[in-house]
Amino acid sequence: MRVVLAYSGGLDTSAILLLLKEKGYEVITVTVDVGQEDDLAGVEERAYKLGASKHYTINATREFAEKYISKAIKANALYEDKYPLGTALARPLIAEKIAEIAKKEGADAVAHGCTSKGNDQVRFDLVLRYHLGDDVKIIAPVRELGLTRAASANILQRHGFEPPGVHKKYSVDENLWSRSIEGGVLDDPATPPPEEVFAWTVPPEKAPDEPLVLKIGFSKGVPISINNEKMDLEKIVRLLNRLVGLHGYGRIDHIENRVVGLKSREVYEAPAALTLIEAHRDLEKLVYTPRELRFKKILDQEWSDLVYQGLWIEPLRLVIEKAVDELNKWVSGEVVVKVYKGLLTVIARSSEYSGYSKDLIDYDKGWYPSAEEAEGFIKIWGMHSLVATRSRNL
Ligand code: ARG
Repeated sequence: MRVVLAYSGGLDTSAILLLLKEKGYEVITVTVDVGQEDDLAGVEERAYKLGASKHYTINATREFAEKYISKAIKANALYEDKYPLGTALARPLIAEKIAEIAKKEGADAVAHGCTSKGNDQVRFDLVLRYHLGDDVKIIAPVRELGLTRAASANILQRHGFEPPGVHKKYSVDENLWSRSIEGGVLDDPATPPPEEVFAWTVPPEKAPDEPLVLKIGFSKGVPISINNEKMDLEKIVRLLNRLVGLHGYGRIDHIENRVVGLKSREVYEAPAALTLIEAHRDLEKLVYTPRELRFKKILDQEWSDLVYQGLWIEPLRLVIEKAVDELNKWVSGEVVVKVYKGLLTVIARSSEYSGYSKDLIDYDKGWYPSAEEAEGFIKIWGMHSLVATRSRNL
C-alpha cells in the first residue's frame, strides 16, 4: 500500500509519516515550495531519515504568483476586510500537486496533517476529491486521532527521533503572500501579540526615520514594475515583503470567522500583499465609473469568501474571475506609495484610462453647469426622497 503525504517537515507531518509506516504503508513525501522560507534540502533529508521511500520537492513559487496571487490582487482579496488569504490561496495549489504525484505514483491514498478544527482540511479535501475522485482515500491522522502536538512529539521520541521545534510556541504557515501565526498566547484575543511572533516586519517604532517611496506599475490589474524597473510578480512580491516590512508595515491582528463554526484570533504579516492591494484599489478608483466601483466590491468580497471557505472548485469562482478580469482590463498605470513607520499612504496615481479630468474639476476654468442646469438637476435628483419623507411625516 502506497500513500502520498503532504509533508512540511514540521512536527505533525513528521509524526504522521511514522504512523503511516507503522500501519504498513510505503510513504512518498511531497513538499511544495510556495515561498515558505524553510530549508527545503533539510526537509527532504528529514523525510528520508524518518523512512520515506521517495521525496519530491516541487517548486511552485512562480505558479503561485502568476496563477493565484495575481487573481487575489485583481480581486483586492481581503477576507473579512483584513486577511489577504495567503494560506487559503496556497492550499488548492498544494493539493493539486499532491494529486498529480498520487496519480503518477499510483498511490492508494493521500495524507495530510490538518486538524478537524481548521479551514485547511476543507481546502485540501475538496481539491483532492476533485482531482482524484470521490473514492479517494484521504488519511488525516490529526483529524482522525485528535493528535496533539505533545502526542506527535511522543511518536517521534518513541521512534528515537528528536521532535523538530518542540519549543515552537506558535503554529506558523508561511508562503510568498503571507505569514500566518496562530496559537499560544495569541489564542487569548485580549492579549496583544508579543514581538517574538513577527519575522517579516520590524516594529513601526524601530523603522527607519526616512520614508520609503515606491512607484508601482500595473498592467490590466497586475503589478509589472517597481520604480520603472520591469519585474515578474514573484520578484515584486519578494522585494516588497522585504522593503516594506523593514518600514514596519504589513501586520494584521483580527478576529476571523472560520468555516467550521469557530471564531479565531489570527495574526499575519503580509507587507507586499497589503501594499499591492492598497495600490491596486486606488488605481481602480481612478479608472472605474462609480457603478463599476461599487459592483466590483461585491465581486471581490464573493471571490474572497469562496477562496477562504475552501470552495476553490465552485464554478461561480470562474464566473467572478471573468468579470474581475473584464473590469481589470482598464486598470493599468502607476501608483506611488509612501511607507513611513508602519503607515502606508498612496500619494500619487495615473492611468491612460483615467476617468478623472483635471480640466473638468478645475474651479477656475473648464466646464461649469449653468445655475439653471444645476438647480434642475438637484430638484429631480432629490424628488424620490422628498416625496417619501413628506408622505411619512418624517
Ligand atoms: N486562518 C488562516 C486561514 O484559515 C491561516 C491558517 C494558518 N494555518 C496554520 N497551520 N497555521 O487561512
